[in-house]
Formats: sequence, C-alpha cells, structure tokens
Amino acid sequence: MTVPPKTPRPVVEASPAADPDPPPTRSALAQRIRQQEILAALGVTALRGMPFDDLLDETARRTAEALEAEFCKVLEYLPTEKRLLVRAGVGWGPDVIGKATVGADLESPAGYALHTGKPVISNHLQDEQRFRTPDLLARAGVRRAMNVILQGEGAPFGVLEVDSRSDGEFGEHDIAFLQGAANILGMALERQRFERNLTAALERQSLLMKEVNHRIKNSLQLAVSMLQLQAGAAKEKGVKAQLGVAASRILTIARAHQQLYKNDHVETLDLSAYLGDVCRDLGGGATACTVDFDGVPGIAIATDRAIPIALAVTELVTNVAKYAYPEAADKRAWVRVARAGDGADAADRIVISVADDGAGLPRGFDIARSKGLGMRIVAAFASQIGAALAVHRRSPGTEFTLELPLNPPR
Ligand SMILES: Nc1ncnc2c1ncn2[C@@H]1O[C@H](COP(=O)(O)OP(=O)(O)OP(=O)(O)O)[C@@H](O)[C@H]1O
Ligand SMILES: [Mg+2]
Repeated sequence: MTVPPKTPRPVVEASPAADPDPPPTRSALAQRIRQQEILAALGVTALRGMPFDDLLDETARRTAEALEAEFCKVLEYLPTEKRLLVRAGVGWGPDVIGKATVGADLESPAGYALHTGKPVISNHLQDEQRFRTPDLLARAGVRRAMNVILQGEGAPFGVLEVDSRSDGEFGEHDIAFLQGAANILGMALERQRFERNLTAALERQSLLMKEVNHRIKNSLQLAVSMLQLQAGAAKEKGVKAQLGVAASRILTIARAHQQLYKNDHVETLDLSAYLGDVCRDLGGGATACTVDFDGVPGIAIATDRAIPIALAVTELVTNVAKYAYPEAADKRAWVRVARAGDGADAADRIVISVADDGAGLPRGFDIARSKGLGMRIVAAFASQIGAALAVHRRSPGTEFTLELPLNPPR
C-alpha cells in the first residue's frame, strides 16, 4: 500500500496583512476539534468498506461541513483528456457533477496540486496571479479555494477541492484537514484495488481448477475408452468382464471430476447428482442391468468422501448384474440416497442403499470373509469414510446399505 502523503507546506499566495500564526480563537479551536471528529468518522466509514462512489459523496459532504464551505468536489483525473472531471461534490448541481471538467494544467490550482503533489490555498481568487481561476469557480462566485492531491492506485486519482464564496481565509490547519480527508479516500482506493486483485485471483484460481478437473475427466475417459476397446478385443469371457469392470471403476472416478468442473467449488459435490451419473453409466451398457436411481438432491459431501461411496456403489451394482439374476435377462438394481431416519441428527447422516430382487446371497456369505475384490473394496472404503456397512437378506433379493455421517467426526 502506498504511504499516504504527508502534508507538504501549502502553496499560499502572499498576504502581507496576515499574521503567520495568530493564536486560535475559541471558535477556531472548536472548528479544529470538529474537523478531527469528522476525519475520525470518515476513517471509520472508509474502513467499513462503503461503496466507493458513496464514500466520495460522503467525503465531499463531510469536508464541506468541516471547513464551513459551500462547495467541495472530488476531481478525477482523465489522463487521455488531460482534464479533471467533477466526479462527486456538494454545492454543485447535477449539470456539474459527473459532467463538468476543469483543466489539469499547471495554471489551474487543481492541476497544480495534481502535478506537484503540493496542497494549494488560494484565499483571494479574484487577485490570483499564480493561477487562472477556472470558469466553473468564477461562475459560482467562489472567492477562495483549497486543493490537495488525491493519491490513487500508483498514479494520482485526482484532486480534492473545497471552495467558498464567503470572506475569510483557509489556513494551514484547514489544508491539513483536507489532506487528511484525501488520504483516507486514497487508502480506500488502494483497498478497493487489493480487493479487486484478490477477487480476480480467486476467479482465476477457480477457472484453473475447472480446467484441471475437465482435463482429468477427459484423461480418465480416454483410459476408459482404451479399456473398453481392450475388453471388446479380449477373447476370453472372464478377461472381457474384468476389463469391463475396471473401465467402470475408472469411469466412476471420471464422473466426480465432471461434477467438479460443473461446480463453482471443488471441496464438495452434490452426492445425488454424482451418483445419478454413475448409475446412468452402470445402467447404460456397462453392466447389462437396469439401474433405478433415486436420491435426495442437495446433499453436499466432501469430494474425497463422495468418490469412495461411488466406487462402493459401482462394485455393488456390478455384483447385482453378475450374481443376482443368474438366469433372468431382466436384471435390475435400485440405488437410493436418503437422509438417515427422522432423528435429531437426520440432517447429518445419510444412507446409501443398493438393492436387487434377485436370487439372494449364497448361504454362509460373510462380508468380512469374502475373498472377492469387490467386497474387500466396499469394506475398505466403508471404513475409510466412517460408514456402517450392512447386508440385509430380502425375500427376494439382497440390500447393501452404507450409513455415514455427512461430515467426518473430528
Ligand atoms: N447382489 C448379490 N446377489 C447375489 N450374490 C451376491 C451379490 N453380491 C455379491 N454376491 C456374492 O458375493 C460374492 C463376493 O462378491 P465380490 O464382489 O467380493 O467378489 P466377485 O464379484 O466375485 O469378484 P470381483 O468383485 O473381484 O470381481 C460374489 O461372488 C457373490 O457370490
Ligand atoms: Mg464383485
């Protein structure tokens, strides 16, 4: 962040009659205290992150009040036009604010403050020798003015100017106040730039993550296609089936990355949307089995928990296709995703079930002692994600359930 400018000695026109440092009157002291209060309030407003345009209006309003002046304006430097636009202000009408410009050359007080960084006090504009009085001020009958630079993002943003029609003089305390107000605005500008950069970096990162997930999904899809080709070319039935199952497992992981690049975040995904995709693949030719899927939408689950669930479902559906209907051509699996029960923790626990109405498990079947890779994968993933794995013998058929907390216990 750029260091706000200290107030250099102001450029003041010679005024032989003026006492350089008269003792402050009671009302002058009261005004200085008021100025301090207003600066403090402006600082708080800027820190709260008020929208920048509102902060410009607020600064102009409070500055005019603190300096007991009728006019105040924030001038924004337009480098291509080399002019200063009245961006916000008080005392000026709608024909001026957002429309009128003043010259930004060294002959104008505002231009001088902009180019030299020095505050300018002009207490007798009608007698001013150093600067040309801008038409805007002359038309409004302004007699005295002060200008300070408004630091922006690297380059100056413009100038903060206060004008008065009344007699009297702006002094060094007034210009110090004005520079203080301009510094607060400058810091708000810097802060906005940081926030913009941060938002842009986050957006870039999110785009990058999407891109990465898209590529991972495509690469995995390529591996799936190759395994499927290899399965198609295999002569032995067992090899063909094994290659087909391997392709399904990889496709299941690919679908997670597809969900992730559709999302705005990568930490979680919608479990039912993901398992819906996986079941569509499994039913769409991978297993020669119809897969009926029904899942509660809106269950956001950590990605690294969703993938093991989906891999377990893939194994269980593959088993239904392989074993539940040895004779029948019409094979069917039901996959469900639901919140667990109606208890107090129902919102935090979920149940995934894979069921069939087929032949049922072989006598003496025991998950823990099953030699097949499928059951070992399911049991290992269940323990990894803290899920209770259960088998229910139905008549007819079988149902496997995984019940787990949505978030892992700490
Ligand atoms: N839905 C089901 N209906 C009937 N039997 C089943 C069902 N699911 C599993 N089984 C039985 O459980 C056994 C173990 O399954 P598991 O998935 O562990 O091994 P696999 O399918 O034989 O081999 P792999 O998974 O390594 O290809 C199967 O051999 C089968 O007998
Ligand atoms: Mg199996």
